[in-house]
Parts: sequence; structure tokens; C-alpha cells
Amino acid sequence: MRAMNRKAAARPARQIVTIAAAMLAAIMLAALPASAQSRDEAPEDFPQGPNRDDTFYACTACHGFKLVAQQGMNRRQWDESISLMVSKHGMPAPEAADRDKILDYLEAAFPQRATPSRGGFRNPFAQ
Ligand code: HEC
Repeated sequence: MRAMNRKAAARPARQIVTIAAAMLAAIMLAALPASAQSRDEAPEDFPQGPNRDDTFYACTACHGFKLVAQQGMNRRQWDESISLMVSKHGMPAPEAADRDKILDYLEAAFPQRATPSRGGFRNPFAQ
């Protein structure tokens, strides 16, 4: 009986250690130079425009911003990308106002290109 009680008491303590370790890891990650996280990227490396920094930091929580910047999409497609990040990759859904700001920047900075680079439809008569 005694041993069981000790075991039961030990479990929350272990959880606390795990949580503390996770928090420490997060703090250490945040303290790393930007280069270690996203290969020397900074918001300034990308086209200037309103909401650039917010967009940069919203998207680089998980991957480099180059991955974003190499796309060219219209607003609807960017919106779908965000939905995909949320539904498939666990991105916390941005508030409507923040989402609009992010879309404002993405649409302005990386608009749909005339020649799609990623297997998009290419009009054979347009060449
Ligand atoms: C919660 C994590 C997370 C966040 C935040 C996030 N993404 Fe992603 N994103 C991923 C993962 C995972 C992939 C696929 C793996 C990879 O290539 O790194 C990906 C891939 C992509 C791709 C490439 C898709 C393709 O088909 O190749 C684009 C574009 C993209 N993300 C845009 C964005 C934009 C824009 C934002 C910010 C508004 C964002 N992501 C924020 C996790 C995230």
C-alpha cells in the first residue's frame, strides 16, 4: 500500500520534470541565433511592405520563409495555404484580423506569377 502511494505521488513529479524540460528546450530554441532556426533569414531579406514582420514570424515558427517566398499565389490560394498549415501541420489558426494582415502582405509581396513554377496550369497557347 505504501509503495503504491509513493508510485502515485512520483508520477506528477515526473510530469513536472517533463514539462520543465520542454519549457527549457523552448527557451533555448528561442535564444538561438536566427541563423540556427531559419538559415540566416530575417524579415529584411524579403520584399518590404505592411505586415511583413508579423507574417515572417507567423510562418517561420515551423519552416524557413524562403519556402513561402518562393511561391506566387493569389489571395485565395494564400488563404488556402494558411488553412492547410492549420489543418495539416498544426498551425494555430490566426485570428481573422491577423489572417487578413498576413494575406495582405503575402498577396502583395508574392503575387501569382505568370508562369507557375510548381506544376500549375500552363496555357500552351500563351507562349
Ligand atoms: C505549425 C507549423 C507551421 C506554420 C506555423 C506554418 N507552416 Fe507552412 N508548412 C509546415 C510544414 C510542416 C510544411 C511542409 C514541410 C516542409 O516543407 O517544411 C509546410 C509547408 C509550407 C509550404 C509549401 C507547401 C508545398 O506544397 O510545398 C508553404 C507555401 C507554406 N508552408 C506556407 C506557410 C505560410 C504562408 C505560413 C504562415 C502564414 C506557414 N506556412 C506557417 C508547417 C507550418
